[in-house]
Amino acid sequence: MTSKPHMVSFALAALTLSTAFSLHPDQQKVLLVSFDGFRWDYLYKFPTPHFHYVMRNGVHVKQVTNIFITKTYPNHYTLVTGLFAENHGIVANDMFDPILNKSFALDHMNIYDSDFWEGATPIWITNQRAGHASGTAMWPGGDVKIHKSFPTYYLAYNESVSFEDRVAKIIEWFTSKDPINLGLLYWEDPDDMGHHLGPDSPLMGPVISDIDKKLGYLIQMLKKAKLWTVVNLIITSDHGMTQCSEERVIELDKYLNRDHYTLIDQSPVAAILPREGKFNEVYEALADAHPNLTVYKQEEVPERWHYKRNDRIQPVIAVADEGWNILQNKSDDFLLGNHGYDNALAEMHPIFLAHGPAFRKNFTKEAMNSTDLYPLLCHLLNVTAMPHNGSFRNVQDLLNSATPKAIPYTQSTTLLLGSDIPGVYEQEESYPYFIGVSLGSIIVIVFFVIFIKHLIPSQVPALQDMQAEIAQPLLQA
Ligand SMILES: *[C@@H]1O[C@H](CO)[C@@H](O)[C@H](O)[C@H]1NC(C)=O
Ligand SMILES: *[C@@H]1O[C@H](CO)[C@@H](O)[C@H](O)[C@H]1NC(C)=O
Ligand SMILES: *[C@@H]1O[C@H](CO)[C@@H](O)[C@H](O)[C@H]1NC(C)=O
Ligand SMILES: *[C@@H]1O[C@H](CO)[C@@H](O)[C@H](O)[C@H]1NC(C)=O
Ligand SMILES: *[C@@H]1O[C@H](CO)[C@@H](O)[C@H](O)[C@H]1NC(C)=O
Ligand SMILES: *[C@@H]1O[C@H](CO)[C@@H](O)[C@H](O)[C@H]1NC(C)=O
Ligand SMILES: *[C@@H]1O[C@H](CO)[C@@H](O)[C@H](O)[C@H]1NC(C)=O
Ligand SMILES: *[C@@H]1O[C@H](CO)[C@@H](O)[C@H](O)[C@H]1NC(C)=O
Ligand SMILES: [Zn+2]
Repeated sequence: MTSKPHMVSFALAALTLSTAFSLHPDQQKVLLVSFDGFRWDYLYKFPTPHFHYVMRNGVHVKQVTNIFITKTYPNHYTLVTGLFAENHGIVANDMFDPILNKSFALDHMNIYDSDFWEGATPIWITNQRAGHASGTAMWPGGDVKIHKSFPTYYLAYNESVSFEDRVAKIIEWFTSKDPINLGLLYWEDPDDMGHHLGPDSPLMGPVISDIDKKLGYLIQMLKKAKLWTVVNLIITSDHGMTQCSEERVIELDKYLNRDHYTLIDQSPVAAILPREGKFNEVYEALADAHPNLTVYKQEEVPERWHYKRNDRIQPVIAVADEGWNILQNKSDDFLLGNHGYDNALAEMHPIFLAHGPAFRKNFTKEAMNSTDLYPLLCHLLNVTAMPHNGSFRNVQDLLNSATPKAIPYTQSTTLLLGSDIPGVYEQEESYPYFIGVSLGSIIVIVFFVIFIKHLIPSQVPALQDMQAEIAQPLLQA
């Protein structure tokens, strides 16, 4: 019988083809998005259909333990370095480095001093050193020269630039002649409004709804640019937010003489630099001052915060209880919502969702550490991680496979499960699925044709030629 070798070669060709088509692109693409101050449970408190769409078609981690202090700059730098604050050196939004004799203050935007950033190397630089291109749209630190490099593409920080314009840049970079494989996108809300209104305000509903629409817009633009099925989209945040009250204010002026110290960072973690010779006086005046204020000498800060081994951590650290604010006196700015508190508090925790070819579908994980994002990013980008405090193993289960560069065909079962959703959701999941099904159908039909031809008793002399002809276009597809 001549049919056997034919069948075998056909089966081999089919296998090769289906494998080739089901492989994800060699180079994974990643878009990391941060919506500042998006507390983990806003997803349940307010209608957020676009976030839930991503969760159903991707992964969701319920409790992300971020790093102390739960402030914007320290946590954004952790997301891109995998290091605790004491290790990456961005220990607060407002800092003083006694060795450099320099200050870093968000309000004055004097954050462009490279010296403050060079305790670590952010992922965009490591990605570039590996020969790839990165782009940052307002990501904290993304427009600072670090270790002599800027991102390949970046937007200089300007809070007035609309979300739509930021998205347009990201899409432009992903589709440019020298395309990025790593994009970082930052948006200031819901943090701004959370501080202003307080997270318990019913007015937070429209704020979260607006963020949800922004995510919807991003998804729409990614689809339009044919990036939705090829980009691994990771949506997270730096911290949560807790409700404050004018009833819960700790006034330093009641306990300390202003001439005895400099207040480097204010609330809810006061970083206090006593004047020369005033350390004991300041520490003792504050130590038992208020039941809702815990005061530490730098070297006594609890180990679990990883917040002592850095010159930028001041000699006295005073931490307020959740919902309490530290002011010098009541005429200082007061916020109805705040963050920065103990990172063990659930209200300080951010969201974490992801969607894309590397991620599982409709998968929920209970908990992760925010330091684990960095090794995950390095894995996806195929770059060697710098020393860090995370663990890839702890988040590996978010991925389709341990080696997403060559996901075997059997993984398409997850695609089938993922596409089992009505309406609009079906379309977006079906791109790789379509190719699989189409190829499968063609192969089955071809098999049938050959099989039937073989059933015809008279030998078909042209079969071998015909088979070659059928096989060729498939191989070129
Ligand atoms: C990963 O990077 C190494 C070099 O560091 C390279 O040899 C390999 O081909 C890359 N793999 C993929 C799938 O890009
Ligand atoms: C630190 O810088 C300030 C100016 O910002 C200067 O007045 C002071 O002398 C400097 N201190 C030292 C020790 O160099
Ligand atoms: C910031 O962006 C706004 C809106 O695009 C623009 O009008 C303004 O000129 C920008 N500011 C700077 C300093 O570039
Ligand atoms: C503030 O201190 C009081 C007295 O110790 C305590 O009962 C209360 O629980 C504290 N508040 C918070 C939010 O921890
Ligand atoms: C609070 O401090 C400011 C200086 O920062 C001072 O002008 C003001 O009088 C103080 N207010 C009270 C109530 O002590
Ligand atoms: C997602 O998973 C949950 C259980 O984990 C299941 O109840 C639900 O039907 C799944 N949804 C989809 C769209 O697959
Ligand atoms: C977070 O990190 C700590 C310390 O390494 C570890 O004990 C804990 O299991 C991690 N948590 C998760 C959810 O992986
Ligand atoms: C965090 O990582 C840095 C860099 O590898 C290391 O020096 C430091 O000891 C780590 N911290 C902890 C608590 O493991
Ligand atoms: Zn923030």
